[in-house]
Amino acid sequence: MPETTAKPWGETKFVGKPIPRVDGYERVSGTAEYPSDVVLPNMLHAAILRCPHGQAQVKRVDLAKAREMPGVRAVLSDADKEAQIPWYAPPGSPGSTGSPTASRLFDPHCRFEGEEIAAVAAETPQQAWDAVRAIRAEYNVLPSVVDMEEALKPGAPAVQESGNRWGAPRETKRGDVAQGFAEADVVLEETYRTSCEIHTPSEIHGSVVRWDGDHLTVWDTNQGPFGIQAPLAAAMSLPLSKVRVISHYMGGGFGSKLNLGKYTVIAAVLARKTGRPVRLFLTREESFRAVGNRPAHIMKLKAGVKKDGTLTALQLTGLGEVGAYPAGTSVGYQVGDLYRCPNVLISESQAFINAGPNRAFRAPGFPQCSWALEQMMDALAEKIGMDPVEFRIKNYSAVCQMQQNKPYTSAGLRECLTEGARAFNWKDARLRSKGSGPWVRGVGVAAGMWGSQSGPPSTVRVSLYPDGSASLNMGAADLGTGTKTVMALVVAEELGVPLDRIQIENADTGTTEFTRPSGGSKTVFADSPAVRSAALEVKARVLEMAAAQLKLPVTDLAFQEGAIVAQGGTRKLAVRELTQLRAQQVVVGVGVRGPDPVDKVVRPFVAQFAEVEVNIRTGETRVLRLVAAHDSGRVMDLLTYRSQVIGGLTMGIGFALTERRIMDAVTGKMANANCHDYKIPTAKDVPADKTVIPIDLHDTECNTTGTKGIGEPATIPTAAAIANAFYHATGIRITAAPITPANVLTLLEERRKRG
Ligand code: MOS
Repeated sequence: MPETTAKPWGETKFVGKPIPRVDGYERVSGTAEYPSDVVLPNMLHAAILRCPHGQAQVKRVDLAKAREMPGVRAVLSDADKEAQIPWYAPPGSPGSTGSPTASRLFDPHCRFEGEEIAAVAAETPQQAWDAVRAIRAEYNVLPSVVDMEEALKPGAPAVQESGNRWGAPRETKRGDVAQGFAEADVVLEETYRTSCEIHTPSEIHGSVVRWDGDHLTVWDTNQGPFGIQAPLAAAMSLPLSKVRVISHYMGGGFGSKLNLGKYTVIAAVLARKTGRPVRLFLTREESFRAVGNRPAHIMKLKAGVKKDGTLTALQLTGLGEVGAYPAGTSVGYQVGDLYRCPNVLISESQAFINAGPNRAFRAPGFPQCSWALEQMMDALAEKIGMDPVEFRIKNYSAVCQMQQNKPYTSAGLRECLTEGARAFNWKDARLRSKGSGPWVRGVGVAAGMWGSQSGPPSTVRVSLYPDGSASLNMGAADLGTGTKTVMALVVAEELGVPLDRIQIENADTGTTEFTRPSGGSKTVFADSPAVRSAALEVKARVLEMAAAQLKLPVTDLAFQEGAIVAQGGTRKLAVRELTQLRAQQVVVGVGVRGPDPVDKVVRPFVAQFAEVEVNIRTGETRVLRLVAAHDSGRVMDLLTYRSQVIGGLTMGIGFALTERRIMDAVTGKMANANCHDYKIPTAKDVPADKTVIPIDLHDTECNTTGTKGIGEPATIPTAAAIANAFYHATGIRITAAPITPANVLTLLEERRKRG
């Protein structure tokens, strides 16, 4: 039985150091084979016809002309029986989101611009697109609604037949908010809005599929092949054993690649029809409309505080858009947990609109919540004349109020705030002159937490060979975050095998064992203990072999840096000298994660600080510097850790300043479905002055590697810190994200009119 309750590491040799990625060369040189790079002999190229209207009923799809186009080998529409696959349907079916209305792969009722109508496979991508353009489709265009508040008004166009409100409001209640507000010296209320954002990963969504008889192999860009395998097998009516999904490399997902995509199933059906491999990758424009987003939210937040800074009540009423099919994003969690507050009421509703359904997006719901909660905390602190950092330190909770006040396994928010403030030079920066214009400066802080969940255990294998080299076999996908590197470090740490002597096989349902997709910042947190457990089993087997060979009790021996040493540190045997290992050529350890703590809750914490300058003549806002202090437990690899934080800060700048899906209220179409009009931050929008402060608390209770997850926490409070800095600079509370020059000029003008 693998050891799942290992002692915490003491001094480490590999873990926690700045170690370059094991696959860095492959990634930067272009030799890494991403799914979009896969070229198979005899491969066809597919393209999809999508609904050009915000909402429409498809009257007729005429494929005759498309079928005759040069190079076309197959066409597919809802008229084909094999394409009538249920989608967005009740739980259990492919793409399941618990939709009140069952839909199909090519459903005749299109509820958003970009919904799939037909597909073509041809010899070249150009021929496939020419054929798509030759499809004659007739629509009965229906009225559409793209604003969540409009969608809930009586007489609004119906997105879902059962109504545009998705289910009853979800409520979380603690104490009595009315009493809490009565006890408060200051009560503030504000409505905050966030915009819908698109994931925009470097590698666009898509698959390459091949049938070998009734065995389906898929190279798919996703966050975990096991998350794709099961729904794909269901869609194609195949046993799991006949569906192999491979995702050795992938170019980012941010949550948009956790689910099975229609494109994968369409490619699989076209490949079966033609008897040839099919490649189907979306265009950037398609990906803007059809493969997910971070939904917009409207958050009404009311808060009560006493003069001494004690919070008395928090009340959040949230409305979120879900798109045309349900995919819920809840925003309330931090309101109920981050700060000590006896009286809390959270009520959340969600509305269907005629737009692509949302998907998990880097810390689903949390950056939105921070935008509201952390600006409110800033406003409360000002009202009672307290420093915003002090105010947060006074109120942070050391127990999980959302789970019966269980303690956290470790809680470093105080350290994040104090160490971050020190690195930022917070006190001095607050007092510095803001300038007299047109550029004015300000600083802001925001805190946050993330709701890590480990999920079911994965199974990992570590093998040691007689020459002392090793292999690591795990199901986890590496999204570009450095997962492979971090996991290899664990093997190196336990077995003393240098990284360049470790071969890694990962993210392939045909050759590795089950793990949940990489999401929720849980991969290192949940899977590195399994890797450690597998390595420890290898160690135990090696020691048994050595004990037998040396005729010494196994308890007298230790495995250190690839050699067997006796008590007192005398080196006894090298791995290559183990006769038993030479005979069997390999020793395999199989690892799973030990049990999760039951009486405690695992949460990463963060505090971030921003300095901005705002041009009060043009409305421009620039981020000048950022400090990010994170308690994510033990730092596994300083370099990948820093990369995650810098990526999170960058996304936070997009959330705060530039990113917004714009929908046309008349046509129901997306107006900026391209990388020119949809603005993700570039190097010019991100300050060079970024400081990452790891609060390297080794969490000995969360798991055997002591780590809690960094990917999502890194982006949670960034936008709120920028908004608070904006307020400090201008004295204007900008409640609607993003902070665009137009918004800023409007608010400045309003203030001027008020005098
Ligand atoms: Mo994440 S939004 O769980 O990839």
